Amino acid sequence: EPALLRAVSETGFISKLKSSGRNIVIFYGSQTGTAEEFAARIAKDAGRYGMKAMVSDPEECEMEELTKLSEIDRSLAVFCMATYGEGDPTDNAQEFYQWLQEGAAELAGLRYAVFGLGNKTYEHYNAMGIFVDKKLEEMGATRICEPGMGDDDANIEEDFITWKDKFWASVCEYFNIEKSGEDISVRQYQLIVHTDLPENKIFTGEVARLNSFKTQKPPFDAKNPYLAPVKINRELYKGSRSCMHVELNIANSKIRYESGDHVAVYPTNNPKLVEQLGKLLNVDLDTVISLKNLDEDSSKKYPFPCPCSYRTALLHYIDITSPPRTHVLKEIAEYTTDEEEKQKLKLMGSSSEDGKNLYLEWVVHNCRSIIHILEDLSTARPPLDHLLELLPKLQARYYSISSSPKMYPDSIHLTAVLIEYDTPTGRINHGVATSWLKTKTVDNGNCPTVPIYVRRSQFRLPSKPQTPVIMIGPGTGLAPFRGFIQERHCQKKEDKPVGEMILYFGCRKKSEDFMYEDELQQYVESGTLTKYYLAFSRDQPQKVYVTHLLRQNKEEVWDVIGEKNGHIYVCGDARNMARDVHNIILEVIQEKGGKSRQEAEAYLKRMESQRRYSADVWS
Ligand code: FAD
Ligand code: 2AM
Repeated sequence: EPALLRAVSETGFISKLKSSGRNIVIFYGSQTGTAEEFAARIAKDAGRYGMKAMVSDPEECEMEELTKLSEIDRSLAVFCMATYGEGDPTDNAQEFYQWLQEGAAELAGLRYAVFGLGNKTYEHYNAMGIFVDKKLEEMGATRICEPGMGDDDANIEEDFITWKDKFWASVCEYFNIEKSGEDISVRQYQLIVHTDLPENKIFTGEVARLNSFKTQKPPFDAKNPYLAPVKINRELYKGSRSCMHVELNIANSKIRYESGDHVAVYPTNNPKLVEQLGKLLNVDLDTVISLKNLDEDSSKKYPFPCPCSYRTALLHYIDITSPPRTHVLKEIAEYTTDEEEKQKLKLMGSSSEDGKNLYLEWVVHNCRSIIHILEDLSTARPPLDHLLELLPKLQARYYSISSSPKMYPDSIHLTAVLIEYDTPTGRINHGVATSWLKTKTVDNGNCPTVPIYVRRSQFRLPSKPQTPVIMIGPGTGLAPFRGFIQERHCQKKEDKPVGEMILYFGCRKKSEDFMYEDELQQYVESGTLTKYYLAFSRDQPQKVYVTHLLRQNKEEVWDVIGEKNGHIYVCGDARNMARDVHNIILEVIQEKGGKSRQEAEAYLKRMESQRRYSADVWS
């Protein structure tokens, strides 16, 4: 097989470090690629301090080997750990998390530092970073630098570069070394241009296996997505905004799902943007290339599936729309001829106070993508292959499945709001996945497909159908509950005894974005949905949110959770909503359950561990 993205590691990370003369190992717990990217940036810095680092995926390592790291002179382990979902580890850090929880290993002599990646709008802010830092200390390891806490709700790039400076200062102090090298740009990958490859050897957007889109073979997963035909793509909103109801055909795919699972979608960048980038950088996008890792020891031979054309890389593999990070600007400065433009990029690429402020204003607040930057700085013209090395990878997007397999065994439904917004520079930005899904219409017998896989979640209805549930889901937070309601509706038709279902739904205006209104009404009439509470936030001068309604119904909430042992579910994208709900439930337990604050907190913790209180929130 050509071009496997990752070679299987036959040896442990200690022997790899030793044989390649390295002393720093950087582990990442990454779900969307940011932690992995940060890990790589720390590794790149190491050379300036006369050290050599290696980036490793904990999933591919025997983490027990950490006990032996101190065998290497001046060794150090760094952990870039993202917190995912409800304070959970990322998929690739699950095993490491369990190993730490057992806490059996003795880590005396191990030196470490932690940078956590989190989001303050979530309840369990940076839980994973905090846990790893604390646990390593408990197991006897030596912290050489205070943990960094990145907040993705504010500016995680700034948090990271600020911490990174402190981290290297601590390393220098600890090992008594000085920064030796200059900030020179080092390429990680070598460009190879292919001129004579047959078509069937060239990637065209596959995630991992060459030609996997032409010859689809189950089982389908993250490395082998299924090209699901779109059956229906219809509009749910009536106003100026758009929300899509999409039905994907999974008949004959052997894909199974449960209500509450997520469907991951691999989107494609807008071809117009790709052409624009090609024009700006004056490259022939049909050129077939490989970017080969210059570090022979690395398990990552290519940054994305190679060989492929520049066009394929830009359409399928690289994120060209998010605001680029500061190190990208710093590297682009080297390819900028106008002195003023060059200094501007250099400043934004530095970690000085002025640089951070300019970056925040000029890039982040103004929502400038790499294309906008190249448009606005007319002499900044990096080679495309270097840009491909620097920009983050295009990530799959998750959607809460909005159907039940009992009602729709052969299809997966999703409910997605189109992302489209004006930026301060007078441009209109479009969400990658949602604007691409919008084009996947089924007319004239044309049947578009979408690369997907199902990601199992912990968001599940109670095992007993008669257990009552309260579901709180403003906006697209309604999605998984549509699946839950369908599920119970089917159970009811099978004459199973089904419990109460109480829904809290909220949106801006009843006349515009009350999605699935008719369906919900029918479920109320048939008795599957016991009742719903509706909060239309913009139909009157003052805001009305689901949380306001919940607060008015404390008696009923306690009846369900305290008296009937029911479950509570929270889902949605409303900022801070989940935290507000959490606090209201605490109040309910205190006031209606007659408990102290402490007892109420313990009660809610227990509900969480029994999965009687579950949240599925994104920002
Ligand atoms: P992107 O190209 O990723 O752009 C989004 C980014 O644009 C934002 O992160 C923000 O930085 C920026 N942005 C957006 N609006 C503005 C603005 N007004 N001003 C400035 N910047 C802005 N989404 C759903 O619609 N339905 C679901 O059921 C759903 N379920 C999810 C479940 C999970 C577990 C997770 C993690 C996410 C879920 N999402 C859901 C969100 C979804 O995954 C995508 O993030 C969303 O559809 C946007 O993707 P996109 O590629 O279109 O936008
Ligand atoms: P708003 O946009 O008018 O502020 C779906 O996004 C709905 O959730 C919208 O009506 C939105 O109102 C509302 N919403 C925003 N923040 C919320 C919060 N903290 N709690 C509950 N609902 C919220």
